[in-house]
Order: sequence, then C-alpha cells, then structure tokens
Amino acid sequence: MTLIAQITDLHIRPRGLACYRVSETNMLAERAIAALNALDPQPDAVVVTGDLADAPDEREYAGVQRLLGRIKAPVFVIPGNHDSPAMMRELLSELGPLDRGSADKIHYAVDIGDVRLVALDSSVPGKPHGKLGEAQRAWLDRTLGDSDRPTLIAVHHPPAATGIAHMDRIGLKDSGELAQILRRHPHVERVMCGHIHRTIVASVGGTVMTLAPSTGHQVHLDIADSEAGKFIMEPPGFFLHHHTPEGGVVTHLAFVEAFPGPFPFFSDEGVSW
Ligand SMILES: [Fe+2]
Ligand SMILES: [Fe+2]
Repeated sequence: MTLIAQITDLHIRPRGLACYRVSETNMLAERAIAALNALDPQPDAVVVTGDLADAPDEREYAGVQRLLGRIKAPVFVIPGNHDSPAMMRELLSELGPLDRGSADKIHYAVDIGDVRLVALDSSVPGKPHGKLGEAQRAWLDRTLGDSDRPTLIAVHHPPAATGIAHMDRIGLKDSGELAQILRRHPHVERVMCGHIHRTIVASVGGTVMTLAPSTGHQVHLDIADSEAGKFIMEPPGFFLHHHTPEGGVVTHLAFVEAFPGPFPFFSDEGVSW
C-alpha cells in the first residue's frame, strides 16, 4: 500500500497578513499541516500542487519553508501561477528535487513506494494561466515511456475545463497536447491538480483528474458565468491518494477541521433495535 497526501494552494502571505483581506491562509495552512501530521498511518509522501506563495517574495517563501518543514513525511512541491520557480529553487532547496528540469521549468520524477510521481511546472512568468510548453511535454512523453510503474502526475493547472468560467479563462493552454500524451501511457492512473480551489473530478486523456480543495479559501461554485470571480470560506481539505496493486489509486477527501465523532455504529454489544 502506498499513501500520498496532497495539499494545494496554500497562498502563504508575509507574517501577519491575510490573503485577499479576509483569508488567513497562514493559519489555515498551519492547521492543515497539523492534520497531516496527525494521520495514522502517516503518508509515504506529501505533494503540494502549487500556489505555495501568494505574491512571491522572500518573506512568503520563508513562511512556506517554515511551515512545510514541519511536515513529518517527505515533501514534494511544484509551482503554481502565484509562485516563482526561480525563487523556489533558491529559497526552498531543502524541499524535493527542485534543481531538476530546465532553466525555467521545474520538473522531475521520483518513485514513492509502489508508484511514481511525475511533477510538472505549468507556471508562466507573470501570467495567471498555465502552459507546459513543448520541451516539457517532450520530457514528459519520454519519462512516461521509461517506466510502466503506476504513475501519478502532479500539475497545478487542471487540463480540463471546469465550467467555472473565470477560472477556465486562466486554465492550461496546452491541455489538448497533454491529453494526447496521456493517451499513449495508460499506466498514468491519476492527474493531481490544484488552482481552482474546489474538489473537482474529470476525465482527461483516458485517465482520471482529481483537483483538491485549497488549505485556505475556496472558489465560489459559479457555473453560470454570472458574476466576477469570488471566493468563499468553505471547509478546507486535502486528498489522500491510496494505491494498492489490486485496486489502483483511490482518492479520499479529508477535512482539516474537527467534526463531532467518530462514533461507533453499535455501542452496546449484543443489543439490537
Ligand atoms: Fe491558488
Ligand atoms: Fe493557481
């Protein structure tokens, strides 16, 4: 059994500052990390699918380093549109193999338990939309051809339109080309994404895409394209991707906050109603 936890869209701010005036992302990320560290069993790895910082600078990445450094399991990160890959390489060098890839794109593949994680960089400097680019797509195609291990791909921007129009406008511009690559490699069992700040499931290139909620604020569910983008303080959460050789990858949504319970279904042995 291999267990991979995924958190996403932390949007860490300089100490004491909220994100978008009201979202206390630093505190919320801290809570999510406490929830991860309380998991039993512990995950084999924690993957952070981008937007680690919010308006990237040294103060924000110092906070990212401090928070992610508390995670007990090995941590692997990728950039989102709110990140700077160059600053990540400089300031987060203790996290994952960030020195790999090309000059402007962080990408790498690592084996975790029985599965392989292929980490991609969809960030475009100064832009909110995503693009992998031709060179990274060629690397991905070659890398997927190197091994038939069950593979999870991590990429910040989802390669599927979600119906939330203001987010789809800043989606992955080469999602069609990525889908063609995925179709050639049926051992890709999952594409793990962030960016939309909601729990979303879609079919992409013959495999399954799952998009995890943010550890902070969520994007308002507006599939009517009726309004400007809004966010909402719905419950933050994270994913647990559970792999077994027999069943493949099964994904669970876990919430950060505590709820009443758990209660045993039957409290009195031998008594039935
Ligand atoms: Fe985000
Ligand atoms: Fe994003």
